[in-house]
Amino acid sequence: MTQQFRITLLPGDGIGPEITAVAVDVLKAVGVKLDIQFDFTEAPIGGCAIDATGNPLPDETLETCRQSDAVLLAAIGGYKWDSLPRAQRPETGLLGLRAGLQLFANLRPATILPQLINASSLKRDVVEGVDIMVVRELTGGIYFGKPRGIFDADGDQRGVSTMAYTGTEIDRIGQVAFEIAQKRQGRLCSVDKANVLEVSQLWRDRITALSNNYSDVELTHMYVDNAAMQLLRWPKQFDTIVTGNLFGDILSDAAAMLTGSIGMLPSASLGATGPGVFEPVHGSAPDIAGQDKANPLAQVLSAAMMLRYGLNQPKAANMIETAVDTVLNQGYRTGDIMAEGMTIVGCTAMGNALLQTLAE
Ligand code: IPM
Ligand code: MG
Repeated sequence: MTQQFRITLLPGDGIGPEITAVAVDVLKAVGVKLDIQFDFTEAPIGGCAIDATGNPLPDETLETCRQSDAVLLAAIGGYKWDSLPRAQRPETGLLGLRAGLQLFANLRPATILPQLINASSLKRDVVEGVDIMVVRELTGGIYFGKPRGIFDADGDQRGVSTMAYTGTEIDRIGQVAFEIAQKRQGRLCSVDKANVLEVSQLWRDRITALSNNYSDVELTHMYVDNAAMQLLRWPKQFDTIVTGNLFGDILSDAAAMLTGSIGMLPSASLGATGPGVFEPVHGSAPDIAGQDKANPLAQVLSAAMMLRYGLNQPKAANMIETAVDTVLNQGYRTGDIMAEGMTIVGCTAMGNALLQTLAE
């Protein structure tokens, strides 16, 4: 029987539309093979939504997302909107989407592909075999804590942001992380700043208490400054990392760069129920937008994550991941991952190579 899924596409800004087009073609090709039908609905978010409606996350966009089985997002933002007031920035639309769909768990894998090992700025023996999953809390912490604002303070100004977590918020992201670690190598490193911050002390206490329910997972704790250092010194010590919103933002970029190109990395944002959002870790790259130079592989791998974590279609996810592996083995490279002896291709040609592989 044909399976049907409603997918909301949020191509966003910059290279977003080009890489989304490739991901859609790939999904359709896999759908034909496995008898899955995708009904795509496109909606604006970010800069293009600001231009069209004045709002980076129009109500209709959020509603369309809520009505779907999963959301495939590309990237938002660009120079054009950088100086608008905060409420009208593209980033505010992204944060609104995360909050609106209650996507508290952000999964950011950083896996070194053997074909791209020379793209890393670190030595081969340091990065070879690295396979890390960063589980970042996404709807709490300093990104959303109150009070916040810029206030007058006795003739001076005072900028305030608040890092706060409730026990419940820590437990629910902790549970997700322990369960992911169980399915991986069974090692979980919780990252905090408990030597200085009360919010981190609570984080550490709650994660430690949770670990009693997961005797098959080995839990360690690390301060965030040390974690940044250890990621660069010997990344293979990490399997699964769980951390708060701000630390996760920073550490996931560092982990991503171990792989050499941020252009290869997908991510998933999940809530307790309802649709998840799947998006590449990279941004909208306005400098190369519309030139057919973008690397669509992170977007395509985000579609694979959508199939695996959002729609429970592991076979289809594997098929896409294998196709990506194959085109890399065939030597196809976009500019960001180009190396000597390889064949440089644009975004469309990379997409065609994937379709070719999937047709075989
Ligand atoms: C990310 C980004 C966002 C964040 C920005 C664009 C708001 O850096 O997804 O990591 O800080 O969460
Ligand atoms: Mg970030």
